[in-house]
Amino acid sequence: MRVLLICSSARGHAIADALKRSPESPDIIAMCKERNPGVEDLAETLVVDDIMNFQSALNIAKKYKPNFAFIGPEDPIGGGLSDALSAAGIPCVAPTKSLGRLESSKGFTRNLLRKHGIDASPKFRVFSSDQGSEMYKFIDQELEGAFVVKYDALKGGKGVKVSGEHLKNIDEGVAYARECIAECGSVVIEEKLIGVEFSLLSFASGKTTVDMPAVQDHKRAFNGDTGPNTGGMGTISDAGHSLPFLTTQDLARASEINRLTAEALLKECNAEYKGILYGGFIAVKDGVRLIEYNARFGDPEALNILPLLESDFVTICQAILTGELSDELVRFAHKATVCKYITPEGYPQNNDQRDAVVRFPALPNNARLFYGNIRRDGDGVLHLGSSRTAGIVGVGSTIAEAETLAESLCQRVEGPVRHRSDIGTEALLNERSTTMQRLRSAVHS
Ligand SMILES: Nc1ncnc2c1ncn2[C@@H]1O[C@H](COP(=O)(O)OP(=O)(O)O)[C@@H](O)[C@H]1O
Ligand SMILES: [Mg+2]
Repeated sequence: MRVLLICSSARGHAIADALKRSPESPDIIAMCKERNPGVEDLAETLVVDDIMNFQSALNIAKKYKPNFAFIGPEDPIGGGLSDALSAAGIPCVAPTKSLGRLESSKGFTRNLLRKHGIDASPKFRVFSSDQGSEMYKFIDQELEGAFVVKYDALKGGKGVKVSGEHLKNIDEGVAYARECIAECGSVVIEEKLIGVEFSLLSFASGKTTVDMPAVQDHKRAFNGDTGPNTGGMGTISDAGHSLPFLTTQDLARASEINRLTAEALLKECNAEYKGILYGGFIAVKDGVRLIEYNARFGDPEALNILPLLESDFVTICQAILTGELSDELVRFAHKATVCKYITPEGYPQNNDQRDAVVRFPALPNNARLFYGNIRRDGDGVLHLGSSRTAGIVGVGSTIAEAETLAESLCQRVEGPVRHRSDIGTEALLNERSTTMQRLRSAVHS
């Protein structure tokens, strides 16, 4: 068994780890944009190259003849690497370019849900020509000034601007919307929702979806959800595979939206979506709405989810490809996880600590460490990059137990680094639950 893994970063490390834990213990041929030490230790071969160089990926595939490929990040999926590899006879656990529009075009996804009667979107409109006054009117009258403007193409998590945060008034919103249209041809303008965000990822075979444990990310750089947005400072999941601030109905609805969306894609594109279907949701006063879809694992979400996987990841990947995916093939441990990212002190504002030495403590059995933007020198010493360094995951019977473990390990990391000490703490969880109780009770009173 041989798998081609196109992915670096901590997410790539977590995927490689899950593949390697399979009883098949596949040979991993990795194509990474940098020499990730975690992937390097697990892979038989690691080729460092630009992962948007599809010809290079095809050459590697021809040379090593993998049974299948797994594509980690969104850019090669959005660019059509799955199509290219499939055409060369390598099936891919990653959607085609057309199906991948679920992530690469927020307008496509909003329209898909509307067309197929999936009532999960906020009020929205997609504009593809510069209708300044129409946009102004829509925001002012229909959205009552609480709005979000979304670049309608991949932009590395930097294409969304929210009123009251990044956009001071409607004029700024319209100006940004125009910029989006000029750059990528269209823009989504939608209602700003109030609630608590969470993610529900499903394995998808085109015929069925099987859910993973729900996860919550923490995007802001500093404690108390303050500071600029980041790639994600950490994530939590709970032993029951839901989250403390969600109702049973909320989770069931998110699951249903993922299933209905996979069905809608099959009808719309006449092709099966095979890969990871990542629903970004928000629990609001009267249920759940969809914020966006991603067509791949999240980083750090994968770092919580994959260590909990008790069943064989290689079998799941194969079942996605053959269409035989079923609930019975997917079993997750009933444990809670807390992942905290270690980052350089200056992240995300500056990279003054780049190349500084970082040392990690020894890990107990119920903890994991996944390397991100980090370099290992010839003497085996680890050095910081400029982005997120490594995710430390604590596993426990409760979120509190997992948090205590992750936190104590993070505190023992040596080097000019930091992390968010509040992720997974009771105080932050209580705050989320209180927010949801307040929103829900306002509806019922
Ligand atoms: N309709 C919305 N209402 C409120 N906040 C939103 C809405 N859409 C997006 N956001 C906020 O903006 C963030 C980024 O938007 P998202 O659609 O997830 O794009 P991306 O992850 O590609 O940047 C979300 O995590 C959420 O905090
Ligand atoms: Mg998002």
